[in-house]
Amino acid sequence: MATHVPVLLREVMEMLDVQAGDSIIDATLGGGGYTNALLTAVAPHGRVLALDCDPGAIERVRSFDWAIEAGARLQLEHGSFGDVQHIVEAQNFPSPAAIVADLGWSSLQLADSRRGFSFQDDGPLDMRLDPTSEHPTAAQLLKMQSEQELETMIRTLGEERHAPRIARAIVSKRQSAPIVTTKALADLITEATPRRGKIHPATRTFQALRIAVNDELGVLQQAIPEMLSVVRSGGRIAIVSFHSLEDRIVKRIFRSAEERGIGTRVTKRPLRPSGEEITNNPRSRSARLRVFETTS
Ligand SMILES: C[S@@+](CC[C@H](N)C(=O)[O-])C[C@H]1O[C@@H](n2cnc3c(N)ncnc32)[C@H](O)[C@@H]1O
Repeated sequence: MATHVPVLLREVMEMLDVQAGDSIIDATLGGGGYTNALLTAVAPHGRVLALDCDPGAIERVRSFDWAIEAGARLQLEHGSFGDVQHIVEAQNFPSPAAIVADLGWSSLQLADSRRGFSFQDDGPLDMRLDPTSEHPTAAQLLKMQSEQELETMIRTLGEERHAPRIARAIVSKRQSAPIVTTKALADLITEATPRRGKIHPATRTFQALRIAVNDELGVLQQAIPEMLSVVRSGGRIAIVSFHSLEDRIVKRIFRSAEERGIGTRVTKRPLRPSGEEITNNPRSRSARLRVFETTS
């Protein structure tokens, strides 16, 4: 069975420095690795509110022994961290001592071919992190967008230099049949691009589509200011990102918050995983952790 190995867990826990009795928000529950560690750190009375926009993640963790044992100390909520302020108010959760967000998808979501995140196995081109949302799926985006829109999306969100060729190939292919499976898209990209380098030629286009389908950058830009206003004075926010577009947003908003006197950047440069972590968990390779502390 697939599992999700938490990335930068030791560094996140050291940086958050949570204390017994604290209330904490894990904005991205995933496989529950951070939440479990946080519950232990705030025991015996501290609480964790854990969010995930994927209801499957919530239901899975709900059945774990440690989650059952935590009882009322653990609140699991289906929702987006873009709505963190509203969720905290609606749940009457105390102003947290720390908020952590570990962005993107979990290995569990990637391994489930029905979700459409991976080009390794064939599946429907969905890519919604929240399958209950009414946002267009990746297949619908490929159908709706003009060639120019596709090219811009693939270039900016995937940082893909072959974006014009890929966009042209998508438009040409969809004239004969809609592109609705991960394999169809991956094959089309492989045919349209020169094969060079270590990564699969579809990697960057899949990244672009996932970011676009879930409006990941827009949600992040909305969420960080909300986190800054929700966390208690002297509290910390830790964000783990996995590509430069996300990291740039975190860096810019933390720097601007510092300039406005809201607090200080605990990490002036992002923390990266050790060589040992990268060897044991290659997914951690691109992770960057930035931490901010609000003024007391
Ligand atoms: C990298 S995983 C988190 C792994 C977790 N830290 C652990 O230790 O298992 C990211 C999770 O965040 C969720 N997610 C992504 N965007 C979200 C959002 N805007 N709001 C809430 N959850 C989100 C995904 O559904 C996924 O389950």
